[in-house]
Amino acid sequence: MARYVLAIDQGTTSSRALLFDREARVAAVAQQEFTQHFPRSGWVEHDPEEIWTGAVATAREAIAKAGGAVNIVGVGISNQRETSVIWERASGRPIHNAIVWQDRRTAEACEALRAAGHEATVTAKTGLLLDPYFSATKIAWMLDQVPGSRARAERGELAFGTIDCFLLWRLTGGRVHATDVTNAARTCLLDIHTGQWDSKLLDIFGVPRALLPEVRDNAAEFGDTDADLFGGAIPIRGMAGDQQAATIGQACFEAGMLKSTYGTGCFAVLNTGAECIASKNRLLTTIAYQLGGERTYALEGSIFIAGAAVQWLRDGLKIVPHASKTGAMARGADPEQNVVLVPAFVGLGAPYWDPDCRGALYGLTRNTGPDELARAALQSVCFQTYDLLQAMRGDWPAAGESTVLRADGGMAACDWTMQRLADILDVPVDRPTVVETTALGAAYLAGLQSGFYPEPKQFAERWALDRRFTPSMGAEERSRLLSSWHDAVRRTLTPR
Ligand code: G3P
Repeated sequence: MARYVLAIDQGTTSSRALLFDREARVAAVAQQEFTQHFPRSGWVEHDPEEIWTGAVATAREAIAKAGGAVNIVGVGISNQRETSVIWERASGRPIHNAIVWQDRRTAEACEALRAAGHEATVTAKTGLLLDPYFSATKIAWMLDQVPGSRARAERGELAFGTIDCFLLWRLTGGRVHATDVTNAARTCLLDIHTGQWDSKLLDIFGVPRALLPEVRDNAAEFGDTDADLFGGAIPIRGMAGDQQAATIGQACFEAGMLKSTYGTGCFAVLNTGAECIASKNRLLTTIAYQLGGERTYALEGSIFIAGAAVQWLRDGLKIVPHASKTGAMARGADPEQNVVLVPAFVGLGAPYWDPDCRGALYGLTRNTGPDELARAALQSVCFQTYDLLQAMRGDWPAAGESTVLRADGGMAACDWTMQRLADILDVPVDRPTVVETTALGAAYLAGLQSGFYPEPKQFAERWALDRRFTPSMGAEERSRLLSSWHDAVRRTLTPR
């Protein structure tokens, strides 16, 4: 019987389980969407129990297709990052819904920390900024709002984890409380230069150390799944935040390689090798991966709304029957109209970092219809990626003219968007044959640890191109479109 690696990809809107064979081909996929809770404007929560049941159900489905747990050499986990859960160590019960990365409820808390002069220290140690995006202020919020929880956390009765860590705890029957270094790097509590939790940061954010998991490499022995869950124990051997997993799945192992994943949001990650570059352009400095104790760093640009803008057209405005139709609609849009969408539904991320502004549409006329809105939504993703690339070039000139962008995620399937992206960026955009790059990255880590997959260099040789999109837009047209985008952004940002 063939053997496989199982990747659990716990994303923002769905949980997926994928089997990869020895040639790193997808052999089976199981997927379940789960509920998004919006208790107030700008708040986003998930029910950790629903995440857990969805992750187990999809994993069981995939394992059954493999012919049972005995045929799985290892499990790799990738996950939506920053989303925070606190649970009781004794019962495993969460004390509150998970607060999702997109949630803006701690914007004021971040402002207060900034006013108190903490931002420089936070950025120097973590590579991040004071923004509600990251876990630390979400943790403090739960400890302040759930009665008795701060004292319980200090007594060691509670555990914190991002979703990887929560799933690991549950999968191992509560035996292992650990995370990987890429997820830890997004909490705002880890010093990315040492790879350790930092006492000064714990003080600044008011987070008790007793809550925190152990931090491990991305490919490591994380523990065995509880034998009762899947009809036999399976070793968990890889974990990474989903964007770092996609960086690995895209085989961006060399400094200067760049990938961008278009899921709910869009995350561009530039491998900077052993160099930890402090951004002057409001990008994040983060850990790309840590293998054998050796850290590789990255510059990251995080955009909160990409595919979610298409979801809004489909589910909110109901003017798009299916996400896959948006490319054709954009192609058919009136070239005379210049409708611009600034999709600041939950504020703007890099490089603007404005949690308070909200989305806006400009340039509407009486002729504006669904096609023009579809084009505006898709184009907004390209414009935002342009802003990230410019910031990366400013921070690291090596990300210069010769850049090629490796794109993946749901929106990468749309040829119109990929061509427009190449046109706006004025660089080639490569789409790989395996577009399941996040799950592939998680699977690769577990496969590497198991000896099932080769070292990064050989694995990179297997990366295969589906299609290259080459820029074909004239400079004048590009600059006209970009200047109307930047004008729209200026008008949308919160006046300071
Ligand atoms: O930082 C948030 C990111 O990890 C979420 O990714 O793919 O679930 O939108 P995704």
